Amino acid sequence: MTEKNVYLIVAVDENNGIGKEGKMPWHFKKEMEFFRDTTSETMEFDTKNMVIMGRTTWESIDPKFRPLQDRENVVLTHNPDYNAEGAAVCYSLGEALRKADLDEKIGDIFIIGGAQIYELALPISNGLYLTKIHNSYDCDTVFPDFSEYYTNPPENLGTKEENGTEFSFHFYSRERETF
Ligand SMILES: NC(=O)c1ccc[n+]([C@@H]2O[C@H](COP(=O)([O-])OP(=O)(O)OC[C@H]3O[C@@H](n4cnc5c(N)ncnc54)[C@H](OP(=O)(O)O)[C@@H]3O)[C@@H](O)[C@H]2O)c1
Repeated sequence: MTEKNVYLIVAVDENNGIGKEGKMPWHFKKEMEFFRDTTSETMEFDTKNMVIMGRTTWESIDPKFRPLQDRENVVLTHNPDYNAEGAAVCYSLGEALRKADLDEKIGDIFIIGGAQIYELALPISNGLYLTKIHNSYDCDTVFPDFSEYYTNPPENLGTKEENGTEFSFHFYSRERETF
């Protein structure tokens, strides 16, 4: 399906919640910086990473901040008339991955949510960046169970604190099956 690295990146609360009423339930500058830096950094000069997201997640981003800069933005929808200014629209995850594979200027692929798209991408991913927010937010959308795919203990990437809330950064990796 793709030779490139496919990473999921997510922030979850104590109950694995990720969203509420179509929006992010929290706003932490330091968490957003981690997200921006991790998804933007590339190993090679003159390449960009691809960020793939569901239509709901795209719409949850403030129009001032989209497309996410310095990254190739891809929005998944079933709607053939959907237009996402500054982003490519694809109608399946496979189509988005093929697009990345055909473009040598694309480095890594980051699946940035939401729940529906994480669920689709978990089986074909080879890494998961998970930020645990040590608080609970009465979310209506949760991150899918990933224990079947990521069985090794995570690497701990540190902790931060903002406005009295602590969050910790973790990276899970796995050998990906060949397709
Ligand atoms: N905490 C975090 O790290 C994080 C990260 C991202 C998002 N979120 C939150 O998660 C929530 C959104 O998650 P969600 O699961 O409701 O929505 P989502 O995954 O962002 O988007 C769902 C939409 O994606 C499209 N889609 C789904 N499967 C598809 C497929 N196989 N092929 C093509 N298109 C497909 C459909 O769009 P159409 O209806 O247009 O067909 C579907 O309605 C929000 O609250 C958001 O803020 C949290």
